[in-house]
Amino acid sequence: MVICSAPGKVILFGEHAVVYGMPALAAAIEKRTYVTVQANISDKIKINSADSSGMVSIPIENLGAPSKDTYRYVKRAVYLTFQHQGKRTGLDIEIESRIPPASGLGSSAAVTVAAILAVSVALGNPLDKKTISSLAHRVEIDVQGAASPTDTSTSTFGGIQFIEPGKIVTYLDSPLNLVVGYSGMKRSTKVLVENVRKIKEKYPPIMDPIIQAIGKITEEGKMKIIENDLGAIGELMNLNQGLLDSLGVSNRILWNLVYSARDAGAFGAKLTGAGGGGCMIALVNDDPEKVIAAIEKEGCKAFYAPISKEGVKIEGDK
Ligand code: MEV
Repeated sequence: MVICSAPGKVILFGEHAVVYGMPALAAAIEKRTYVTVQANISDKIKINSADSSGMVSIPIENLGAPSKDTYRYVKRAVYLTFQHQGKRTGLDIEIESRIPPASGLGSSAAVTVAAILAVSVALGNPLDKKTISSLAHRVEIDVQGAASPTDTSTSTFGGIQFIEPGKIVTYLDSPLNLVVGYSGMKRSTKVLVENVRKIKEKYPPIMDPIIQAIGKITEEGKMKIIENDLGAIGELMNLNQGLLDSLGVSNRILWNLVYSARDAGAFGAKLTGAGGGGCMIALVNDDPEKVIAAIEKEGCKAFYAPISKEGVKIEGDK
């Protein structure tokens, strides 16, 4: 039996624009998903979860069929790992996630990444992080139709990453203090990415410069993180939030949380991830409590989100 875990993430700059080749800056956070895998002698993959999703049992030969249920990422992850390893076996898979689902915090990427490592260990050939990251990105593309490598790469490697699609990822070391506010509204990344594509195709001369401006903000954000210029990082987050609104992915609740955080003294605040609900982040000083209280006053949950330097890992193997 092997237990693997992988962290969730927040996107500091560049969500959506990264789908169109712009860079993104993302950070892994100390909220993880745990996947336990045990090989069995049946020809079935049994998946269960500590939340209320229930148990499913799929014959191995049906694993490649398109799926729409809650375990679609895990099924695809198992399928592609079997293909990559050229081996397959019956498996009992147990999932425990501490990342709020469908909230922009990378829960799908985390379960995918942790499952790929755990299945590869169960097959007797643990995969390296580069391979895990690339297989996990393929899973997201297959399940969502379009996906950048941002979430899967951040969950695999951990830390803060500057991601330029198709290029080598750069790691930044910075002690950023972040607060996450959760609107409580679940939403679908697939639908939001699709909506941005539609508005982009409708008004190319307007939307293309907005996407490019987000790319410039991300590049500038990288410099300011290296310089540890918190005021400028916050200002750039605010600019990014305005442009995300113009892509149509912010909403009233997210803006309320963003303004509450800014009024409570945050250096800057913006939605994080696909938007449309989900979460926002605020850059704070050493004392996050004031910003957390301001978000909670809006009736939403908030938590301090230390950056996780560790990506995917084996928690135990017996
Ligand atoms: C989702 O966490 C981030 C998006 O940019 C989609 C992606 O990068 O695949 C909205």
